[in-house]
Amino acid sequence: MFDNRNYCGKLSSGDIGNEVLLAGWIDRKRDLGGIVFLELRDVTGIVQVVFDSSSIPEETQRAEKVRSEFCVMVKGSVVKRTEETVNPNLTTGDIEIKAEHLEVLAESEVPPFPIDSQDKLSEEIRLRYRFLDLRRAEMRDAVISRHRTMQVTRQFLSSHNFYEIETPMLNKSTPEGARDFLVPSRISRGMFYALPQSPQLFKQILMVSGFDRYFQIVKCFRDEDLRNDRQPEFTQVDLEMSFVSPDMVMREIEGLLVEMVGAIQGRDIPTPFPRITYDEAMSRYGKDAPDTRFGLELTDCTDIFGESGFKVFQSTLENGGIIKAMVVPDEGKISRKMIDDYIEYVKAYRAMGLPTVRYNNGNFETGISKFLSDDEKKTLSERLSLEGNVLVIFSCDRKQVVNDALGNLREHIAEQMKMVDGDAMNFIWVYDFPLLEYDHQDERYYAMHHPFTAPKPDDVEKLESLSPQNAEDIRAQAYDVVLNGMEIGGGSIRINKMEMQRKMFNILGISEEEARVKFSFLLEALQYGAPPHGGIALGLDRILMLLLKRESIREVIPFPKTQKGQCLMSNAPSPVAAQQLKDLSIKVVEP
Ligand code: AMO
Repeated sequence: MFDNRNYCGKLSSGDIGNEVLLAGWIDRKRDLGGIVFLELRDVTGIVQVVFDSSSIPEETQRAEKVRSEFCVMVKGSVVKRTEETVNPNLTTGDIEIKAEHLEVLAESEVPPFPIDSQDKLSEEIRLRYRFLDLRRAEMRDAVISRHRTMQVTRQFLSSHNFYEIETPMLNKSTPEGARDFLVPSRISRGMFYALPQSPQLFKQILMVSGFDRYFQIVKCFRDEDLRNDRQPEFTQVDLEMSFVSPDMVMREIEGLLVEMVGAIQGRDIPTPFPRITYDEAMSRYGKDAPDTRFGLELTDCTDIFGESGFKVFQSTLENGGIIKAMVVPDEGKISRKMIDDYIEYVKAYRAMGLPTVRYNNGNFETGISKFLSDDEKKTLSERLSLEGNVLVIFSCDRKQVVNDALGNLREHIAEQMKMVDGDAMNFIWVYDFPLLEYDHQDERYYAMHHPFTAPKPDDVEKLESLSPQNAEDIRAQAYDVVLNGMEIGGGSIRINKMEMQRKMFNILGISEEEARVKFSFLLEALQYGAPPHGGIALGLDRILMLLLKRESIREVIPFPKTQKGQCLMSNAPSPVAAQQLKDLSIKVVEP
């Protein structure tokens, strides 16, 4: 009965005069008494169908009875709309369907929210009724854009000699970074699989096996605290290449991102993307994933205040801290009250205050101006290229606190003062990350990317004299791709020698025994001619969220979890039957 079905959104004036068969949902109904207009919606869009009781009385009577979201089939012919009734808001707005037949395929309850609503709907209700929410144009666009992004990814990477290879979902638990999601084994009681946090080890093994170039569009699972840019299960575009340099990986990814932006936004983005080192990113923006759509860069001024008469600066320097400044060209708009709000804002980053001074066409006014010597004023004006009427905001504390405070405040002020170009797509590479970070509380080193990342060849020797003080000086062959201030991908060149990998585990406090238990297959594989290799993984959900300009990653995932990790539609997670637990030899201890 549905043979030769036509799609609502694909009809155009070229179809005028044709007989069509349409099937979909009633988006809206207008009943003018004797004439009924139904807006019929399917996955491609909407078209208006007209029932006229003077020619088809029975069908029109039936049309009077249908309601929004009934699923129906319509037969009719395509006609041109009169000049006055053309609807410029519909892509099919210059035609309509003169109905001949209507059949209700399935009735619908009154939906809990109008599908065509332009108002902001409660996310909780949307997620509870996701099957209806996905009927909304916004969600349909997101799901279809996701499909297109995956399509161009497969096409691009396949044509660049990458093989799409699946890796297992049931794995050995080797947590480093986030917590694993565990799956109990029934056959091996008391044993557990872990869902993959990423296919990292398997893709490296594939390189050892000689597959040369691998990719996968793959679900990854991390049991971590959720935010607007994080989900417990998310999708990576994961790839790995043999005989490769960081530059080669970056160029492939630039090519792929050009395709993705083209598919979603229909525009061309320039390549190569700007590249900055981790040090430069931290120094200029206070963050390793900087938003470069606006200025407000940070400048180190520590050396200017060696003899400062301002007590707070003095004690900062005595405690080995630093002083950085950010210049806001506000033309005098930032008030005392706003500065107080900024001070409140940076408390979340453990900053104790924000000394400020206004520079107004040659004069230093208010704030800490009375503590500044003439020399300091002169050097400051030069260093910060001060001109016009601007506010200088300082932060003085430990380096990390200063960077956190100003790095985040910078984005806050840019947003507040509407300095961000909402249309810009600023991709950048950040590279030369430190290999390790030392955690003073845990008294151990952590891998900044992951334990399989290779140090830069020039820095390998420094590993011999590693100490908590110089840990950050050892650079890794690691790189992140950042879009508008969000990390959308990260990767590295890997260690391909067993000895080096052993050494790395050792530095990270992973004992020989632990390494053998967790990673023996990798260490073994590295003994059989492992090629030099490296790769990267892109966060597909984050990319879509940014390209579609959505506020949360949940807006581009068909069936996401809430911030509490729940699926409101299916009610996962949920208790399981006692027998299921018994089969698994698992006993639940009430929390
Ligand atoms: P990494 O851990 O940096 O690298 O992850 C790669 C990218 O995945 C995205 N991402 C997430 N997206 C949504 N929700 C999450 N919880 C989440 N966690 C990460 C980010 C991130 O940049 N195996 C390495 C890659 C490699 O070295 O090749 C890895 O997984 O966009």
